[in-house]
Amino acid sequence: MGREQWGTRAGFILAAVGSAVGLGNIWRFPYVAYENGGGAFFLPYLFALLTAGIPLLIMEFTIGHKYRASSPLAYARMSKKAEWIGWWQVLISFIISVYYSVIIAWAMSYSVFAVNQRWGSDTGGFLFEDYLQLADAPGQFGGIVGGVFIPLVIVWVIALGVLFRGVKKGIEMANRIFIPLLVFLFLIIVFRAVTLEGASTGLNAFFKPSWDAILKPDVWVAAYGQIFFSLSIGFAIMITYSSYLSKKSDITNNAFITGFSNSGFELLAGIGVFSCLGFMANAAGVGVDEVAAGGIGLAFVVFPEIINTFPGLNGLFGFLFFGSLVLAGLSSLISIVETYIAAAQDKFNVSRTTAVAIGGGLAAVLSIIFATRGGLYFLDVIDYFINSFGVAFAGLLSVIAVSWFLKKLPEFQSHANQVSDIRLGGWWRVCLAVITPLVLGWMMVQNVITNIKENYEGYPTNFLVAYGWVVAVGVILLGFLISMTKWKAGQLEMPKENTESEEVSK
Ligand code: ALA
Repeated sequence: MGREQWGTRAGFILAAVGSAVGLGNIWRFPYVAYENGGGAFFLPYLFALLTAGIPLLIMEFTIGHKYRASSPLAYARMSKKAEWIGWWQVLISFIISVYYSVIIAWAMSYSVFAVNQRWGSDTGGFLFEDYLQLADAPGQFGGIVGGVFIPLVIVWVIALGVLFRGVKKGIEMANRIFIPLLVFLFLIIVFRAVTLEGASTGLNAFFKPSWDAILKPDVWVAAYGQIFFSLSIGFAIMITYSSYLSKKSDITNNAFITGFSNSGFELLAGIGVFSCLGFMANAAGVGVDEVAAGGIGLAFVVFPEIINTFPGLNGLFGFLFFGSLVLAGLSSLISIVETYIAAAQDKFNVSRTTAVAIGGGLAAVLSIIFATRGGLYFLDVIDYFINSFGVAFAGLLSVIAVSWFLKKLPEFQSHANQVSDIRLGGWWRVCLAVITPLVLGWMMVQNVITNIKENYEGYPTNFLVAYGWVVAVGVILLGFLISMTKWKAGQLEMPKENTESEEVSK
């Protein structure tokens, strides 16, 4: 049987945008931008998008399109020595899916709580004590929390249900529903947000540039980190999704559309979030800096407070906000899980149903760790380490391997140019072979030094070693081990259709 394919070009773009637009856009971007220079952050952000984000997205789309395989098989077809990079990326995705699903579960609970603002006036106390029932110290499990476990089961039933149905009937169809709905809901929220009293104060705080910030290395690290996580590059997703493209399908234009849609959504989220923060600061008579927060604090502590203060239809807006998080999260989760479903199908020659049941089932069971009372601590550390030393690092090694060791860029450039509207020039190769490795390499060194010098969030060293370093290094070692096992005969040969199409075009 041939490889599954997307039904239409729009179906692929919606799925790629669905993967990119996720929790990272809504709760991560606004605060990262604000903390790292506000308006001035857009300079490093745009630089990272144009020199690393989009060029890498084009590279990943080309790899998937050319080798028509999951990430490990695509790298193995490139060179058997590079196969481990594919497994490393797939394992990073596996780890991310295990905790990402839990955050969607929280959002699901909160969309119900929003209806009558069940969180009350002490939103922080409600989150940590009543809802998560947080354990006293990091490293303790302390029993499963029912309120998290039940929505978690629902999240996995939806995600795996979509994946069982396959690429066209499952993933494409789900994104055709989720993404337009998400954009519609989000536009309502943003429109309401910018018309709130005090919104302009928030927007001023968000856009006000502090130019000295762009001289700080940390700000550049933050920009690159944001681009990688947000665009879903470096974790095998885009290679897998583009492996389902038809052989005549465009590559470069699709990458630009995906990249700019993702950044557009990110900007929209920044405007919506900071308008709300300005409104709240105004109502409380304090500065925006006193109410601004990021990540979990922003979504599950500050936003409920904003909903409490809303001038009307509080329940509806709360439901829309958390409902948007659920939609954005689910479409990303589906893409993250698909990476290891596809890899298992290629390597172990099993059906999609078996791969979803075993791979997805294992991730679902492991995610229960994060539904325990100590879950939040585990989540915080694993998320930090897998992002700092996983996603961006795997992206860095993939560009180094492809451009310097395997010297594949000229071949990929002509492959992409054969099918794409926009033609790639030398700029693309310079971005990947020179600029990205230099900036990312330097960023990795800085990151390792910082983390050796000081413990992340002041957590105990043994906790950070066991759940941070061991996980980050473990996925690399496990990737090596899996790459040593054999492929079934003939599997490493290039897909027939592509060899033919290249011969014809020569
Ligand atoms: N790209 C996804 C996000 O932003 C993973 O959350």
